Amino acid sequence: MQKGSVGGSIRLGVNIDHVATIRNARGGGHPDPVRAAVTAAQAGADGITAHLREDRRHISDRDIDRLVAEMGLPLNLEMAATEEMLEIALRHKPHAVCLVPEKREELTTEGGLDAAAHHNHLSYYVERLASNGSRVSLFVEPSKVQFAVAVAMGAQVVELHTGAYCDAMSEGDLSRAADLLKRLEEGAAEASAMGLEVHAGHGLTFDTVGALARVPEVVELNIGHFLIGEAIFSGLESAIKRMRALMDQARAEISGNRTA
Ligand code: PXP
Repeated sequence: MQKGSVGGSIRLGVNIDHVATIRNARGGGHPDPVRAAVTAAQAGADGITAHLREDRRHISDRDIDRLVAEMGLPLNLEMAATEEMLEIALRHKPHAVCLVPEKREELTTEGGLDAAAHHNHLSYYVERLASNGSRVSLFVEPSKVQFAVAVAMGAQVVELHTGAYCDAMSEGDLSRAADLLKRLEEGAAEASAMGLEVHAGHGLTFDTVGALARVPEVVELNIGHFLIGEAIFSGLESAIKRMRALMDQARAEISGNRTA
């Protein structure tokens, strides 16, 4: 089965932003996000995700230069739809670009893009990036309206925002978590039926990854903050290997159910 296919195996993209957050707390070069990317590859990651923010609070321009030059895995560049970021992405031609909403004051990406409201603005970026050879994805909430707009713009991929589900789980609000998970499951099926490749991410942990990896239409998960935090206790390689194993186990469960 092709890596990352509906109901088949599932890809893990490791987001290394917060290795750079720790480095930037002191300046200098340690810990090095590119070294983290190499370790992630050895531990079973299928790709590396990095978000180059307007304020450069973690990943820097030089990190992107080095990731493209030195790393063997495909790069998924997360970026806001601005002229500055477009110029950088066109120059580097990363394997994938994920367009995300970005607010200077937020701690992390707080919600999905409103692709419907910003259709005219975003479609220019989707078109420029896709014609330059990158796979373009839109980071959205699970909404049919957003999927329809993504298709109309020519985006090949949507990444579903799992933050609200993960927050509900960590707050112990299981009934809200179940509703949010159901919406993610339905959304993944709707997006896939509309011809979009479905990714998911934000806030995923060892406790929440299985539920998303069991959604057959989800072919890639992008995970960062939890893995970098967990690396403090068990090491990066071990944390990624455990995440990978949990994803593979969840996937094996659904393919077992399908053949049973
Ligand atoms: N996917 C997208 C589009 C994101 O913006 C982020 C956060 O940068 C992630 C996945 C990873 O989220 P987390 O760091 O919470 O695992």
